[in-house]
Amino acid sequence: MGIQSEIIRLKKKKNITILSHNYQKGEIQDIADFVGDSLELAKMARGIESSKILFAGVRFMAETAKILSPEKRVILPVIEAGCEMADMVDIEALKRMKSKNPKAAVVAYVNTTAEVKALSDICCTSANAVKIVNSLTEDEIIFLPDKNLAAFVQRQTSKKIIPYNGWCYVHDQINENDISRAREKYPNAILFIHPEARERIQLMADYVLSTGGMVKKAGELGDEEFIVGTEEGMIYRLKRLYPEKKFYALRDKPALRCVNMKKTRIEDIKIALKEESPEITLDSSVIESAGRAIERMLKLS
Ligand code: 13P
Ligand code: SF4
Repeated sequence: MGIQSEIIRLKKKKNITILSHNYQKGEIQDIADFVGDSLELAKMARGIESSKILFAGVRFMAETAKILSPEKRVILPVIEAGCEMADMVDIEALKRMKSKNPKAAVVAYVNTTAEVKALSDICCTSANAVKIVNSLTEDEIIFLPDKNLAAFVQRQTSKKIIPYNGWCYVHDQINENDISRAREKYPNAILFIHPEARERIQLMADYVLSTGGMVKKAGELGDEEFIVGTEEGMIYRLKRLYPEKKFYALRDKPALRCVNMKKTRIEDIKIALKEESPEITLDSSVIESAGRAIERMLKLS
């Protein structure tokens, strides 16, 4: 039996739901019950009936699933799959920012650790960041960790955004040459850029979108060609959904690749299903306070 058939047999037998982020390898997306962006996966984790979730993604995503469904067993096949941006937040620096700006609300991108979420008023993802910020009564917002997403929000709000100095190395490396080369090579293509790219790169895009936003927009537009300015896994997802359209990587060499997203191999999924581990465990007080910030976001989404 091939490994994919074996995984499908195991997940059915054990009633384990597999959630995959859009950046996972194609062969993993293929065996998942649901593929989506951070917000869609968070909603899915809360809504599904099975008591066990296997999360093909990175740690903060699996933690979010655990926080929303503490009674469920959440398995992350490669427990070291972190997020460099999430790890950039220093708790003491955040506390200093809070005491320096006592009137400001703290908005934490879901790409944060559970401990950081617990110190925040509300969470957001790249799909709803503007809506979340604009829904708050406070006029000042400490926004963390991504300074580029913070700039994206600042362009669309009258509130004062106080950004944390964090970034995603995958998106922050996109430069003007990448854009001009891709535009020249594919003159008829629509350019999508993720809001984790630098602000001046965002301004060169046709659309600045979360990964879920890219899925939706590619389906809505009549256009047939798209340059995809985000992690390479997204190309597989889009091609599978819209085989009649063409999707090009913004850059091939070196590819825009998130090392942590690619740590999970299909073999790891098979082992994790068999052993039902490694499992995400969190302190109940952290689950409670981080849960408040995530639930508040979901109520507004
Ligand atoms: P999305 O919420 O757009 O899927 O992004 C998650 C992420 O990690 C981007 O780098
Ligand atoms: Fe983190 Fe960037 Fe990887 Fe997303 S792509 S998981 S933000 S390092």
